[in-house]
Amino acid sequence: MYLRHLSLGDFRSYPSAEVALEPGVSTLVGLNGVGKTNLVEAVGYLASLSSHRVAQDAPLVRHGAERAIVRGAVVRDGRETLVELEIVPGRANRARLNRTALRPREVLGTLRTVLFAPEDLALVKGDPGDRRRFLDDLLVSRQPRWAGVRSDYDKILRQRNALLRAASPARGSRRRGHEPAPTPETLEVWDDHLALVGGQLLYARLRLLRDLRPLLREAYQEVSAAVGEARTTYRSSLEGEAAAAVEDGEVFTPEELRDLLLAAMHARRGNELDRGVSLVGPHRDDLVLSLGDLPAKGYASHGESWSFALALKLAAYHLLRHDLGDDPVLILDDVFAELDARRRTRLAGLVADGEQVLITAAVGDDVPEALRGARFGVRPGHVEVGLSSVPGLDGHPSLDLDAFDRDEERPAAPPADSLVGPRTEASTDVSTGEPTGEPEDVTAGGGDPTVGTGAVGRDVADDASTTGAAHREGHEDHEHRPDDEDAR
Ligand SMILES: Nc1ncnc2c1ncn2[C@@H]1O[C@H](COP(=O)(O)OP(=O)(O)O)[C@@H](O)[C@H]1O
Ligand SMILES: [Mg+2]
Repeated sequence: MYLRHLSLGDFRSYPSAEVALEPGVSTLVGLNGVGKTNLVEAVGYLASLSSHRVAQDAPLVRHGAERAIVRGAVVRDGRETLVELEIVPGRANRARLNRTALRPREVLGTLRTVLFAPEDLALVKGDPGDRRRFLDDLLVSRQPRWAGVRSDYDKILRQRNALLRAASPARGSRRRGHEPAPTPETLEVWDDHLALVGGQLLYARLRLLRDLRPLLREAYQEVSAAVGEARTTYRSSLEGEAAAAVEDGEVFTPEELRDLLLAAMHARRGNELDRGVSLVGPHRDDLVLSLGDLPAKGYASHGESWSFALALKLAAYHLLRHDLGDDPVLILDDVFAELDARRRTRLAGLVADGEQVLITAAVGDDVPEALRGARFGVRPGHVEVGLSSVPGLDGHPSLDLDAFDRDEERPAAPPADSLVGPRTEASTDVSTGEPTGEPEDVTAGGGDPTVGTGAVGRDVADDASTTGAAHREGHEDHEHRPDDEDAR
């Protein structure tokens, strides 16, 4: 698939932007701070309904504006789909697919992207939440209906935590008025909810990892040509032998996982009551990354960490590609400046054949010849097409060419306020709600775009989740320095 046209209104630094894109490689070149990442962030948002940089929507809306609009014309197998999103901070997004209003979550799967950016270093160096989010995002990319399960899990978790807080003797004084403490029976109902949906989520992650591991090993070899094998171990909050089996790569069934989660909750009941939080479930888990026998976090060099993060994303790309029988759009944001010449060339060779690859770079010459595609010059608030037609400009990305627009067939953009349709609210009653869908066949290939089939979840109002989104703003800054440590 590829994105043929991107259209922005009041998104980040852009009052408006119309960008015509083509299959193959497109490189956005411009000085730091001109708005290159803003553009690819919008593309990522169209695909995932979330930003790779911030957990909240407010920064996505241009300062002083009330709402942002992102539109994309997506071409897959010769058929074009228009996806439109309206982002209003603090409220649910609105969405349209081919001009028909629907729940935002139902656009998931129309555009699929894999985005690699400096922030991804947090996959290796950051908190477990960053890695959980990677897994869960990939899960949703693969099969959009998991967005519903993920969101249900977050709601159940919030409810259960509230209950634990109220039941906790140390915190009982925080109960409003003379509300009685919740009974053990009430808590058990929530144990069941959490274990049921948590078991599904856990199952999905384990199955995903089983498929991802060989691709990761290969991708790390390719990216780094390094000694040492990239490994992942899933560290769960299950008890004893079950936890060890999961670490060894065993994929239990969702039912087994539900029972194992329940057992772990019972074992830790006292602890949970003491602390007033849920200590068991996929929200507590981590994906431990290691190179050879050493954990990556705290041990790997900067270059190795970088290669590991890149390998995770390339593995995700290959997995989706295989699932869909179609290439997701690959986005490489500000990646080449980080790599030495040898690794630049190797990365270029790995991605050059993707159906569409969007690259940003401050210096055009950092992007290898093999990726010479369309070049776009980016100035604050403007995107200019056609640098590729002017030889020798790559080293001078700030050259102020007259903008020209090669997009003759730009979709007629309706005004922002014409996005119609009911706003979705976070209204699912989890006390009655069943988790979305039943666990799928382990052997199913997955990746069916479920848009329009009604198979996608119920609402999308709260995606800032306990499975990691909240951590996004807390990333450590990545260091911009050349690193040859693992080239030795
Ligand atoms: N919500 C916003 N409103 C206005 N400007 C914004 C907003 N968010 C970011 N910006 C501006 O966008 C610029 C950063 O753009 P970015 O795409 O990250 O640059 P780069 O080209 O280096 O990737 C900064 O100047 C920042 O002030
Ligand atoms: Mg940038």
